[in-house]
Amino acid sequence: MSAAPVIAIDGPSGAGKGTVSRGVARRLGFRLLDSGALYRLVALAARQDGIDLADGPALARLAAGLDIRFGSAEGGRVAIWLGGREVATAIRTELAGNDASRVAAIGQVRSALLDRQRRFAVPPGLVADGRDMGSVVFPDARVKIFLTASAAERAARRHKQLKEQGVTANLAALSLEIAERDLRDSTRAASPLVASADATRVDTTGIPVEAVVERILQVAHGRL
Ligand code: C5P
Repeated sequence: MSAAPVIAIDGPSGAGKGTVSRGVARRLGFRLLDSGALYRLVALAARQDGIDLADGPALARLAAGLDIRFGSAEGGRVAIWLGGREVATAIRTELAGNDASRVAAIGQVRSALLDRQRRFAVPPGLVADGRDMGSVVFPDARVKIFLTASAAERAARRHKQLKEQGVTANLAALSLEIAERDLRDSTRAASPLVASADATRVDTTGIPVEAVVERILQVAHGRL
């Protein structure tokens, strides 16, 4: 199905998927798909346009027509353009994450984003980060990783990340929000967060990013 080798990296919020996926993509010279950003963008655009976050048909139309561009900004940061506006920071708030999780539960929205995601798979290859990369979007991915970490560590990481971005957050409230989001992501009917039977589980609790990247490269060795 995919024209190029794909490494699918799925897992719950705060398991380290973003950082680890970037590291793996850089080491291999592969492209990167941050699929969560797409759901965050749909939610942000819906808020901007006053679309109800439960209105499936309207959200699906919005998702199908969104003008999205990924690029790079100063200091190696990722720039994300929604129409004429740079929104890489705006989509990272906890509100945007929760909104994303709500629109992501709607099957019509997920279908509307399917082709857009698959078009990222171009030579020399793709590292795809999300919840359903190995199960639905790239079922024939050469490598499937399910990244996990303890709930406490995931909340602490998110807290640190937000602090670095200058966003004040309460750790206890954050833990609750993450738990709520994980529950919705794993119990929804449309493409729930599940580890495919053929995925390799990698627990990142207490393990430095570089070591996790190495482990994934080891799993991928000989399969790309
Ligand atoms: O990974 P990130 O936190 O940016 O994802 C935001 C939300 O988007 C997730 O909580 C999840 O509900 C949704 N998502 C999804 N499928 C993906 C990626 C993200 O449902 N492949």
